[in-house]
Amino acid sequence: MTARIGVTLNVNGRARRVRVPPMKRLLDVLREDCGLTGAKEGCGEGECGACTVLLNGDPVNACLVPAVHADGARIVTVEGLERRGKLAPLQRAFADLGAAQCGICTPGMLLTAVALLARSRGRVPGEEEVRTALAGNLCRCTGYQRIVDAVRAAAAPAARARRPARRRAAAKPKGRRR
Ligand code: FES
Ligand code: FES
Repeated sequence: MTARIGVTLNVNGRARRVRVPPMKRLLDVLREDCGLTGAKEGCGEGECGACTVLLNGDPVNACLVPAVHADGARIVTVEGLERRGKLAPLQRAFADLGAAQCGICTPGMLLTAVALLARSRGRVPGEEEVRTALAGNLCRCTGYQRIVDAVRAAAAPAARARRPARRRAAAKPKGRRR
């Protein structure tokens, strides 16, 4: 019998302790041991991005990561994005703008986009910037434009909120003076 190794993960804010064979993939641990089936298996070779999760804030292909290498790490899967049963703004934008069709790529797209939006700190990333960030996530359905639009749309309210109040006031049309 193959020896098993204890691995502790923080998945979506919850501690999970599992005992796994040494080379069991993070993707399989999440799906089989944690019951989180949002991360999908497409190619199984690091090419499609369907299995993307965040590992300590960075997007990784969970099909390429042995779970033991993630010991002690913070993992976020698509199940961790919604709050109290409400979709996150990025998920809402995907739904509203038709950025998800068959849905196979969607969890990975969302998590890669979450990392991009975290890096852009309230700025709306440019179209090319979004396309470059999402280059490792393949979609066979949407033609990508709706996904790019959704990511930028989700960033827009945060960018507006960060705009200094003075600039917002200056941008308002002036009322008629008496
Ligand atoms: Fe992991 Fe395709 S299933 S990159
Ligand atoms: Fe089907 Fe992207 S929505 S692969």
